[in-house]
Amino acid sequence: MTEDSLGKPITLAFDVYGTLIDTHGVVVALEKHVKDKAPDFSRTWREKQLEYSYRRGLMQNYENFARCTSDALDYTSSYFKVFLSENDKQELLDAYKVLPAFDDVKEGLERAKEYGFRMFAFSNGSADAVETLLKHAGIRDYFLGVVSVDEIKSFKPNPGVYCHFLRRAEASGSDAWLISSNPFDVIGALSAGLRAAWIKRLPEALFDPWGIKPTLTVKSLLDLAGQIDLVHQNR
Ligand code: 2OP
Repeated sequence: MTEDSLGKPITLAFDVYGTLIDTHGVVVALEKHVKDKAPDFSRTWREKQLEYSYRRGLMQNYENFARCTSDALDYTSSYFKVFLSENDKQELLDAYKVLPAFDDVKEGLERAKEYGFRMFAFSNGSADAVETLLKHAGIRDYFLGVVSVDEIKSFKPNPGVYCHFLRRAEASGSDAWLISSNPFDVIGALSAGLRAAWIKRLPEALFDPWGIKPTLTVKSLLDLAGQIDLVHQNR
């Protein structure tokens, strides 16, 4: 089992949307409505969803992540000048509740389990939404629990949400890692005193040039557990 220098087991906080679950899985459902614009529509929808979460966090005007997703869909359909009926919108929001996992996820989690890591899902999404996604993707049982920012009514990367994770998981910054494909989330966790692994699935993915580096960068979840173990062996 991988442990920290005091013999404590290592805790992993897995980001959900964009890390375990592929938000662009919604492209299939979008094609029916926006045809070849589906990939661009999906990207804008995701960017706006995150922007709305940052803004609501800063403004201290909290509404849950599903509301950010729904408002961002309204913005994106106006931006692309696509009319969506209430039924169309509901169909797309329903597709968002059952998005697929990335291909490397199941095997990556299986490997992490073999190392004895304490694994949690940690998300902007509400606990119910995350439970549904993980169950649908067949990966819920890998996690000891789901920790949602909804419990403190704010969003990543507010440092408070990472502290909340540590309290809920009964972990401390030196024995806990955030695992995320989202650079803003990695930087948020590092700034709050956790370690963080960036999952860089695409060679062209960029990390923000803030002078803050991930503790670890891996190309796939398949490499994650072995690399984290090495960091703690070489401590
Ligand atoms: C999540 O918290 C950041 O969307 C990402 O699941």
